Amino acid sequence: KTVFVLNGPNLNMLGKREPGIYGGNTLKDVENECVAAGRELGFDVDFRQSNHEGVLIDWIHEAGEKAAGVAINAGAYTHTSIALHDAIKAISVPVIELHISNVHAREEFRHHSMIAPAVKGVICGFGTASYILALHALKSITA
Ligand code: DQA
Repeated sequence: KTVFVLNGPNLNMLGKREPGIYGGNTLKDVENECVAAGRELGFDVDFRQSNHEGVLIDWIHEAGEKAAGVAINAGAYTHTSIALHDAIKAISVPVIELHISNVHAREEFRHHSMIAPAVKGVICGFGTASYILALHALKSITA
């Protein structure tokens, strides 16, 4: 069973980018942790990152065809993208929204998520462990 873990803009900079907020782990570290956690949960993890909104949309459509679920950190597109909301609504596999930081404890413009109404649930604020928690959430809701 394959699950997609999708990452949006600037997450390729993880480890270098505002480490006080996002921590020192690189995205490759997070990928390795997700693959290991997936192995325990019975998931093959297909881990991807793009800085481009349309690419993320294509991947959500692809997940609708071949994945059992999706965990997505949409980065700043979380707060802006009706198109991502619509893409998530267009597929029937469960999607979990996740964030490394607690977006609600940060700037006002991060308090609203365009995609939250389209997803199954939201995990935020646990550092990069949010990814692992999202995989557990997917495990608990997929047969
Ligand atoms: C983020 C939070 C977003 O507000 C921000 O734009 C990001 C990362 C997080 O994982 O905490 O790029 O999604």
